[in-house]
Amino acid sequence: MASKLAPWLSRPGFRAARVVPRQQRRTFQRSAAIRSDTLNVHRDTPDNNPSIPFKFNTQNEALIEEVLSRYPSQYKKAAVMPLLDLGQRQHGFTSISVMNEVARLLEMPPMRVYEVATFYTMYNRNPVGRFHVQCCTTAGPCQPNTPCQLRGSDGVMKAIEEEIGIHHGETTEDKMFTFTEVECLGACANAPMVQINDDFYEDLTPETTKSLLRALKEAAEKTGAGGWAAGLPGSSGQDEVSSEGAGSGRQVKQGGRGYAAQGASIPAPGPLSQRVSCEPMSGPTSLREEPPTGESMLRKDGQL
Ligand code: FES
Repeated sequence: MASKLAPWLSRPGFRAARVVPRQQRRTFQRSAAIRSDTLNVHRDTPDNNPSIPFKFNTQNEALIEEVLSRYPSQYKKAAVMPLLDLGQRQHGFTSISVMNEVARLLEMPPMRVYEVATFYTMYNRNPVGRFHVQCCTTAGPCQPNTPCQLRGSDGVMKAIEEEIGIHHGETTEDKMFTFTEVECLGACANAPMVQINDDFYEDLTPETTKSLLRALKEAAEKTGAGGWAAGLPGSSGQDEVSSEGAGSGRQVKQGGRGYAAQGASIPAPGPLSQRVSCEPMSGPTSLREEPPTGESMLRKDGQL
């Protein structure tokens, strides 16, 4: 019908003329650039340059052999993460020499190892103090929940700053503590929490945080284990205070809740509240019976 009343409406030329190109606009938002305090670009320093030799010790060589036996020989690069971890534990941090040695052992291009080591924050690219205090402050609109911040991580951060006198991202002058702010460490049910070396201390208050740090410092001073983390120049070798206990081989466990050595005592890792684990604050509400043990828990076919 339209073509009969106004035949020019259907003409292709007219239709083409109606298609006026419209300017495409796309909005975008700019936010302020946030500079990370993590150095992901290697710069040679006296402590960290490729001319510093690094070799795994005999004990770690045996461990490396065991780790490599888990993978087909053509896929041995899959062992890059455990080997970097061993290197960090031996040397004190993941230096360029540690990464190069891992690359040599696994026959990988060094850049592939650098990529892994700089992606995961558990690899410390700079020397850390005897106690690496990592405080979880997870918060933000993109997180599904914000336990540590909701339950007082601001107070814990402040308590750490007050007790050891540094801000996050810094190391104390005596190399005893390095303080780092981190995202969720997976212990949300016991928020707020800190990780100190390999241990989690949970259900913290500003007071328990301060007394924990005081206890670690006192134990390190009494056992002469201050200074850099194990492996770094000036560290006192294997017989050290760790957050797991004061002076390996000399620890005395106190009623299952703490450690003591040479007059200093350190709380055991875990909740520093009345909780044993992550049960409700008011006590367990289910699974209250003792878990079954012994024969009834074993497979009858002899398999593990
Ligand atoms: S939010 Fe802190 S451990 Fe998960």
